[in-house]
Amino acid sequence: MFVRRIAVIGTGYVGLTTGACLASLGHDVVCADVDADKVARLTRGEVDILEPGLADLVAEGIAAGRLTFVLGAASAVRHEPEVMFLCVPTPMGVGGVADLSIVESVIEEVRALLPADCVVVNKSTVPVGTADRTEELLDRTDVAVVSNPEFLREGSAVFDFLNPDRIVVGGSKQDAAERVAALYAKLGAPTVLTDAPSAELVKYAANCFLAMKLSYVNAVAELCDRLGANITDVTEGMGYDKRIGQAFLQPGPGWGGSCLPKDTSAMLQLADAADFEFRLIRATIDTNTRQRQRMVEKVRIAVTGKRNGSLSRRRLALFGLTFKAGTDDLRDSPALAVAALLRQAGADLVGYDPSLRPDTQNPDLSSVTVSDDPYQAAKDAEAVIVLTEWPEFRSLDWQRLAESVRNPIVVDTRNLLDPAVARRAGFEWIGLGKP
Ligand code: UGA
Repeated sequence: MFVRRIAVIGTGYVGLTTGACLASLGHDVVCADVDADKVARLTRGEVDILEPGLADLVAEGIAAGRLTFVLGAASAVRHEPEVMFLCVPTPMGVGGVADLSIVESVIEEVRALLPADCVVVNKSTVPVGTADRTEELLDRTDVAVVSNPEFLREGSAVFDFLNPDRIVVGGSKQDAAERVAALYAKLGAPTVLTDAPSAELVKYAANCFLAMKLSYVNAVAELCDRLGANITDVTEGMGYDKRIGQAFLQPGPGWGGSCLPKDTSAMLQLADAADFEFRLIRATIDTNTRQRQRMVEKVRIAVTGKRNGSLSRRRLALFGLTFKAGTDDLRDSPALAVAALLRQAGADLVGYDPSLRPDTQNPDLSSVTVSDDPYQAAKDAEAVIVLTEWPEFRSLDWQRLAESVRNPIVVDTRNLLDPAVARRAGFEWIGLGKP
């Protein structure tokens, strides 16, 4: 395997994982960030992202001399990289269109400094056509641009990077795309070599398909509720079909996080700009919005016994606030979306999440009082609502919780708990699509 000199611009969760994992594959990696404090912390091996295995890989990379951190993209380019990865944020901008201003400013900064024959790799999720546009902005015939989307899940990013289902690389220059694909050769994953627009579209198409799968499953769970069927058995029966698969079939309070909401909106914009009405994606998003309201309806009926009962001043304990388990990420969290709706309905909310502390500062937490003790959070609550699938909720002392709540009702929007355990402890257990 060729050892390559690599620059990674941006040390967010994608950039840092990419840098640390490429270093672990033997490459010589320099990571750049604009935040001087962060660069100093990373240089000391301090990782502030909750991602299993990442801190160890960073420490190993630093100790082996294969991973360094510098301030600013220009400093990284002074190391004469053969390949430069762009891993900077592309947030949702006006009208759901991805905002590329950070990508553009990095290109502006490094344009004249990049060594000849360097390959610029876009790893951020960007609209189709961005690689071509980056090539135009660079305006250097000796520097190629390729798209190499990442498919990492938060909470298992290192595992996903080192065990990829596939590597996708697209660009107009075959040798540049092959050089990037070769960086991952050790991983032995199927590789799709294509043009840049196709590689860029793979990412949106995959994330939108996943969102569609979840909206579908959430709608089927609703139907199960109405028909008296059991969603767990229905999805198990569906999932044995290899064309469907068992993964990504868990109903919940709706999908969220920093990727699926952003990418489904961007896909709609992309289609719109191409004069195509992508109704399936529109329905996927609408079903997700409805799912959050449906959770509130479930809570309302559970607590008041009526469809139009009032939640005003009702104290509710929310278990799990992050967008999924295993992360401390609150971005576009369905749990917080449900919390905001409950708050609008007048409920008083106390939340517990294993990754959060009462002093966690986040504007999205404004509707919830955070407690670091689940038993304290549940005290005098009129219902416990499980919103994130933290496995540790299963091993709480449900008997003790039953004694401290006002009403022993648990609305389990993740179907996480064993209903028999909850019922034995004295709780009325209400799940999704469960008779
Ligand atoms: C998602 C994709 O899964 C990754 O492949 C992709 O690389 C990443 O976006 C990205 O574009 O960067 P992630 O946002 O980390 O990864 O989260 P997921 O694990 O996909 O979960 C998304 C949401 O769906 C969460 O709210 C989760 O709780 C929910 N979910 C997931 C369910 O409700 N049920 C399931 O069965 C699975």
